[in-house]
Amino acid sequence: MKIGIDKIGFYAPHLYLDMTKLAHSRNVDPDKFTIGIGQEKMAVPPITQDAVTLAANAASEILDEADKEAIDFVIFGTETGVDSSKSAAVYVHELLGLNPYARAIEVKQACYGATAGIQMAIGHIAMNPDSKVLVLGSDISRYGIATPGEATQGAGAVALLISADPQVMALEDQSVYFTSDIMDFWRPVYSDKAFADGKLSNEQYIAFFSEIWNRYKEKSGLGLNDFEGIAFHLPYTKMGKKALKPVIDEADNDVQERLKENYQISTEYNRVVGNIYTGSLYLSLLSLLELKSDLKAGSRIGMFSYGSGAVGEFFTGILQDGFREHLRAAQHRNMFASRKEVTVPEYEAIFEETLPTDGSTVKLDTNNDPADICLAGISDDKRQYVNKVK
Ligand code: HMG
Repeated sequence: MKIGIDKIGFYAPHLYLDMTKLAHSRNVDPDKFTIGIGQEKMAVPPITQDAVTLAANAASEILDEADKEAIDFVIFGTETGVDSSKSAAVYVHELLGLNPYARAIEVKQACYGATAGIQMAIGHIAMNPDSKVLVLGSDISRYGIATPGEATQGAGAVALLISADPQVMALEDQSVYFTSDIMDFWRPVYSDKAFADGKLSNEQYIAFFSEIWNRYKEKSGLGLNDFEGIAFHLPYTKMGKKALKPVIDEADNDVQERLKENYQISTEYNRVVGNIYTGSLYLSLLSLLELKSDLKAGSRIGMFSYGSGAVGEFFTGILQDGFREHLRAAQHRNMFASRKEVTVPEYEAIFEETLPTDGSTVKLDTNNDPADICLAGISDDKRQYVNKVK
């Protein structure tokens, strides 16, 4: 039985910051951000968006009534969840009106959470072939104003519907995963900003990819020549390129060119959104699938997932006949085109505007946020969400 990605949804907040303007304001050469790091725009989340609403907005674009009935498992990968106890998946389950006979849980391991969710979903569908699983990767990446990580912030969510006989991509059985205790990036429970040892995190990402890729080759008997493209977790768009560089010579010359070109295409969406942590790899996959016009059914795509701390995994999928008809390239083009630019001072004010942590009540104005699903406030220590179209 084929199991894999049936539909992919994506949502980014309606505000963005131009990285060249950020560079000028930080007295940095803009080429450092746009070339050295490889980011052009950064999604800026208004206070009315959080990990829950971003995910619910991403999922609502793909789910029809039949999906809502068939989904019996919601797995929410996030490292910027809104509650230490209640899972973000339960909120999304309610906001989207999903079948009540469902499991709803949250999974955490930095940017790796959604990948763990996909692997759990595959096992669930193998045992329950008629069911569908909604896997969400949703985050707001925050390092702080004028920190080295600032240029690698972002916000957004990807929603993946996993099912038998998938319309977009069948996932293959071979996969290699690896864990090692490393303090390259972390966020203690008292902080709403992440801490990173930038240099170490880059080194470990590259080392994990090498380690896992070599093991994958041994286990599968496959090599780079067997891949149409590889999508990477992209904390910033230069990162995957750095990981691919030490191994690219293993491919024939024409394959090297193909992998480099497809890598570039797989970074386009991430370049204008920034790091969305758990969703980043799947945003990169979506970028490749929606923007590479001559991708063919039957092609094998590799996916490298890396979650600091650290867990990594390499796994693969085969594009299915007619996969393009089940993508939403035009909607995503419109989503990007309708975003509104904010100035650096506006971005800084939005960044500093945080929700109360002392139990006080707050009511938020959702009229300025064009998203269907928004955070409307906090009352009695309970988040109040609205779905404007439900
Ligand atoms: P930095 O120290 O500001 O930057 O931090 P840098 O000095 O290393 O420069 C960056 C690149 O720009 C370099 O290129 C420079 O040469 C180049 P590289 O040598 O790396 O190829 N450069 C220029 N290029 C053109 N023109 C110029 C110019 N000047 C410099 N004028 C860093 C960069 C990414 C470390 C920082 O932003 C950071 O700490 N970010 C957060 C951590 C991170 O993203 N780590 C990535 C790997 S870990 C990961 O992926 C997991 C993660 O997503 C979290 C999770 O799992 O949950 C982060």
